[in-house]
Amino acid sequence: MPRYAITTFGCQMNVHDSERMHEVLRGAGYVETEENAEADVILLNTCSVREKAEQKLLSEVGRLAKLKRAKPDLVLVVAGCVAQQEGEKLLARSSAIDLVVGPDQIPEIPGLLGEVSTGGLPVVRTVFDADAPRFLTALSVVEGSATAFVTTMKGCDERCSFCIVPTTRGPERYRSSASIVSEIAALTERGVREVTLLGQTVNSYRDPDDALPKDDGAGPEESQFAALLRRIAERAPGLVRLRYTSPHPRHFGPALIRAHKEIEILARHVHLPVQSGSDRILKRMIRRTTRASYLERVAILRREVPGVTLSTDIIVGFPGETEADFAETLSLVEEAGFLGVFGFKYSQRPGTPALRLEDDVSEAEKSARLSRLFEVSERLIASHLATLVGSRQRVLIEGVRRNDKNGAQGELRASGRTERNEIVHIHDPAAIGLTGEVVDVTIEKAFKHSLLGVLDSATASRGRERAGALPKTKRTLPLLSEGA
Ligand code: 5AD
Repeated sequence: MPRYAITTFGCQMNVHDSERMHEVLRGAGYVETEENAEADVILLNTCSVREKAEQKLLSEVGRLAKLKRAKPDLVLVVAGCVAQQEGEKLLARSSAIDLVVGPDQIPEIPGLLGEVSTGGLPVVRTVFDADAPRFLTALSVVEGSATAFVTTMKGCDERCSFCIVPTTRGPERYRSSASIVSEIAALTERGVREVTLLGQTVNSYRDPDDALPKDDGAGPEESQFAALLRRIAERAPGLVRLRYTSPHPRHFGPALIRAHKEIEILARHVHLPVQSGSDRILKRMIRRTTRASYLERVAILRREVPGVTLSTDIIVGFPGETEADFAETLSLVEEAGFLGVFGFKYSQRPGTPALRLEDDVSEAEKSARLSRLFEVSERLIASHLATLVGSRQRVLIEGVRRNDKNGAQGELRASGRTERNEIVHIHDPAAIGLTGEVVDVTIEKAFKHSLLGVLDSATASRGRERAGALPKTKRTLPLLSEGA
């Protein structure tokens, strides 16, 4: 049987797309290998959101071209956002590439592999499925996993001036609420306890079948997203936690805030990208929000949902960003009290409106601002985590995670997250047996980005029993990545 290997770059949407690639390839009789050297087909699922991500791909292609010289039958596939963006041009960059497929072509991959492996010319397929959008599931790969991603929409109709996503992922297309709910129900049957809804602007959701109630009190910018959350909570009883990523602040209105207040399984954490704290820059970014409206929404959310935690994305060094603009970003980070900042240096992306603005902040200045941003955000998270030492937290055990670098170096531990998205490692390896359960953990210690805790003795012994009873294949649970 032919063997394949997938390397994934970029966001959670890509991680999920890779899971679907596994699903279609397995369905077509391919077998996964983790070693590129053993693979007959290598797929690179690419990211083009920042220049650096794209460069990573090109150097990987260079490495694989060498491998291919030694093994000429190897089929090299470039999939995902760089594939969509560059199309044919990729073939000119490397003669090692056999197949270029965009994010909407995942179902066709096995068929296209058949075409290219019979010695045909390289193939490029990058059309959006705008007329009949397809939303694939990845049910077979979640076996043993407590958490899963579920797509609710794809593409993006916002026109943020820095962003390539509308080009690489196409216009917004929504999946029906009935199909979302049934996928979640099927996942919970397989033991999934936490679902993260995925979409480029996840909270601009509209049900294409119009099967959801209109939200009363929803402002003009609001969508049916809150109604979707309610429908999921009602119809997926096995679900203990529901998250979503990433919402646009423009669509983050009263109905969604009320949903946070009322839906018990909805996590008390929101990743709400702000990008900048300066109105002047927000305008140049075409974010269609202001600093004041962002902070006002955060204030209402905090009032309605006490203890809610927030994280965000920020771009530093956007064209025209002065020291004063950047100071406003830093002060917004403090004011909003983010406990997680994903910061990026601005990089020009092909075809984006911001190309018309001069990229006038030097690389050195961008780096300096990024470090200053992280200094503030690290301080906020460290002082937050320190307040939790000694407290008891409810943690959904998710699997095995490599410990925080400041903790026991590189050690693997059972770990999970609180509903507020704090990562908690557990002392006792028996906690592995409790994967998928929400347990009480007493926090003993705070690391830089995570916590360390202990189980009470009754829970620990239950964990030991369950760990002993686990079939061997399930004892090594997925290694969770750090981060969002
Ligand atoms: N340069 C730098 N960062 C970018 N992002 C998106 N486009 C760019 C760009 N051109 C960041 C934004 C977004 C995150 C996924 O990547 O912060 O929220």
